[in-house]
Amino acid sequence: MNNENSRGQWGSNFGFLMAAVGSAVGLGNIWGFPYKMGANGGFAFLIVYLAMVTFVGFATMLGELALGRKTGLGVIGTYKVLYKKFAWVGWLGFLSGFLILGFYSVLGGYTLRYALGFLMEIFSKGAGFGGMGSGEFFGSFIINGGANVMFHAIFMGLTIVIVMGGISGGIEKFTKIAMPALLVMLLIVIIRSLTLEGASTGVAFMFAPNFAAFSEIGFMKVLKTAAGQMFFSLSLGMGCMITYGSYLSKSENLEKNALIIPIADTIFALLAGLAVMPAVGAFMSQGVEGISFGAGPGLLFVTLHQVFSVGMGGFIGNLFGFVFYFLVFIAAVTSSISLLEVCTAFFIDRNVSKGVKANRKMITIITGLVVFAVGVPVCLDGLGSGVAGGATIDIPAVMFGMSEVRVAFDCWLDFYDMIAEGVFMPLGAILMSVMIGWILKTDIIKSEVEEGGIKMKAYAFWDICFKFIVPIGILFVLMGQLDDFFGLGIF
Ligand code: PHE
Repeated sequence: MNNENSRGQWGSNFGFLMAAVGSAVGLGNIWGFPYKMGANGGFAFLIVYLAMVTFVGFATMLGELALGRKTGLGVIGTYKVLYKKFAWVGWLGFLSGFLILGFYSVLGGYTLRYALGFLMEIFSKGAGFGGMGSGEFFGSFIINGGANVMFHAIFMGLTIVIVMGGISGGIEKFTKIAMPALLVMLLIVIIRSLTLEGASTGVAFMFAPNFAAFSEIGFMKVLKTAAGQMFFSLSLGMGCMITYGSYLSKSENLEKNALIIPIADTIFALLAGLAVMPAVGAFMSQGVEGISFGAGPGLLFVTLHQVFSVGMGGFIGNLFGFVFYFLVFIAAVTSSISLLEVCTAFFIDRNVSKGVKANRKMITIITGLVVFAVGVPVCLDGLGSGVAGGATIDIPAVMFGMSEVRVAFDCWLDFYDMIAEGVFMPLGAILMSVMIGWILKTDIIKSEVEEGGIKMKAYAFWDICFKFIVPIGILFVLMGQLDDFFGLGIF
């Protein structure tokens, strides 16, 4: 199919899966999951998380994929066609795409900066991080607006180029290589991490079942953390999976795909934990300064930098530092292209419905530039740390929605995150489940799943999950987010 004149379609089911798993696996898995699991009861948290994936994640995933494939349209078109009154719900998803990608790309730019930093350190000591310690470097980097804008621009540029290539010629082509490569790189880091002296401390931190956490932290709080994490990690609630589903052929098995994506996403999250936590534990138990489990959001850019530069140190440290940050960068890119696609699909659909040229290239460039502009304020406010000339700047506690209590408008990143992840996404998902489960009835999903002659096996289970558990589960996410952002103290 000619990309310039049509919406496009996945070349194969495998290609679709790589793209969808690529969307799901991102900073959420590598950055958020390991420390959240460790800090919320380890194996005990995992059980709660898996329950969330099973009863809320799977059902929502299948709902989104089926809706997209049914209408063959992006998120706005899908809601418009199915239920006009809810057209605005599609807009929530579309706007979330701009906001999330706006800050996601800035963070993606950070990962690129760190990968290059370690690469340069291999060749010349001090060339990558200017001889600074990890905390000092991070503090100086986040207030360097020019550098932030530059890396944000590179990251967005790459995202735009891939999305410009179209569904099979761009997104699928890239993710089909990137996802297996990501897995290989992750396995290499895991082997190094697990064979370090003292690695078991980290394994225990992450995996040892600590059911006491339920009473110490509060079960509702653990549940809220698991629900929010699951939701973001599976790219749900904003139409990403609706959009990706819209490029699927009617002969593919939606039910199986909706099962594989969450399983793969969870495996990647656990693997990321095995790559990260044993290394942190090893150097913590060896007494290396500045390395502890307690860094929370500081894990990715401060603790791990210290792990590679001081803990491992030397050539090996730089090499593994490079491989690790490069893999995080790739994981971020495969997520960012799905976010941009949510935004571009709307304009492409509009052209296709008018019968004019789809004009994907031009649309992608313009949409991408708007997203770039949305991200610029995030680059310039030093993540709320105060753009000052001081040498040591505290790492903002409020970052990427990962701290315990967030103050609403502390920085642009948090502001975008609050609107999108905090309100639009959970609201969108609740309304989707109300629309399908209670207004249009779940038969429309069943008939779509069975469109290609494949019987829907788990209909009874899915139906109950979708009508009852999903809205309650997500209402919980919504309350949890509002609680976090506004410090309401509900949980
Ligand atoms: N799932 C991605 C992650 O874990 C983030 C994402 C959210 C991507 C929503 C697309 C849509 O990092």
